[in-house]
Amino acid sequence: MYKHKTTLEDISKLLEPVGQQLTSTENRLRETFRNQHDVLTEATEHLLDSGGKRVRPIVALLSASMFKANQQHAVSLAAAVEMLHTATLVHDDLIDGSLMRRGIKTLNADLSSEVTILTGDYLFARAASFAAQTQSVRVMNLFAETLMTIVNGEIKQSFANENTTNRQNYFQRIQAKTASMFALAAEAGAILGTQDEKAIDAMRHYGVHTGIAFQIVDDILDFVGTSEDIGKPVGHDLLQGLLTLPALYYIEDNPGNSDVASLQNGHNKDQDLYKRIIQSISSSSAIDSSFAEARQYVENAKSALEKLPQCKCLDALHTIADYVVERKF
Ligand code: IPE
Ligand code: IPE
Ligand code: MG
Ligand code: MG
Repeated sequence: MYKHKTTLEDISKLLEPVGQQLTSTENRLRETFRNQHDVLTEATEHLLDSGGKRVRPIVALLSASMFKANQQHAVSLAAAVEMLHTATLVHDDLIDGSLMRRGIKTLNADLSSEVTILTGDYLFARAASFAAQTQSVRVMNLFAETLMTIVNGEIKQSFANENTTNRQNYFQRIQAKTASMFALAAEAGAILGTQDEKAIDAMRHYGVHTGIAFQIVDDILDFVGTSEDIGKPVGHDLLQGLLTLPALYYIEDNPGNSDVASLQNGHNKDQDLYKRIIQSISSSSAIDSSFAEARQYVENAKSALEKLPQCKCLDALHTIADYVVERKF
């Protein structure tokens, strides 16, 4: 069974400095707005009750707390970031045709595309409204820029007419779709509490590198995880013609292989062939190489924090960076 974790329970002790704010964030996320249609209320509850690790709001709260930001503003930021994440998942699952997430049905499994798109839009607007409650124009700007970066990246990916087989392109993609949101969480937390630009920049770097590592591991789990553990379909990326880091390493390591050739042109839709390739990649050294790369980003993330004063929140941010590569779901 899917673990149905709402927060990172295995490191919950480290989250004590922001435990209360994490509870407030959950409550804030569940606020119902006036004149909100029942469908939107039900969809929001369905999404929030399904769990999710809450990694991004945790990073935002730890960062804000490290710089002694106003707690109400920190909670607004955390809610904004998690709601933004939720909205992108609603649209992502519709675009990908994914029917399961967090071990339960996605919105698009039950609702029409029209209603799913509109619900996603509504959640984006709610996220923006939470961002406004931080009372920081700079944070609101950063929020908007992050969403522009994510959408730009996704559009670019869908217009790539050939499967792009280089790692540089992969890193650009994951910076846009995932690292940008981790960067927002970490940087905006700092903005709410300090004017020290070096510290803000350090937090941004921490977020970017943690986010890159996070997505690499998501991409590895798509090969080696089980859908029971990760709560979503596995082997999905390749079937959708998406070449992620394990596939790219595999291609580099096996240039003469005929399966690899069919991967590179991306036109072969033979399901059995794909299953065989997924199996080959899962048991190849491409997985270790990808983990090694993710670990390198974790080290970069931790060293970004080097010059910041030691405190409990900083320790927790270190542990989160480590957790990102150790996680199983
Ligand atoms: C899933 O993010 C989308 C990616 C960027 C890989 P999470 O793995 O944080 O999803 P939840 O919120 O815990 O379900
Ligand atoms: C989703 O990335 C990132 C965005 C929502 C922009 P993935 O497509 O890898 O996430 P999963 O695997 O569906 O959770
Ligand atoms: Mg997806
Ligand atoms: Mg994925």
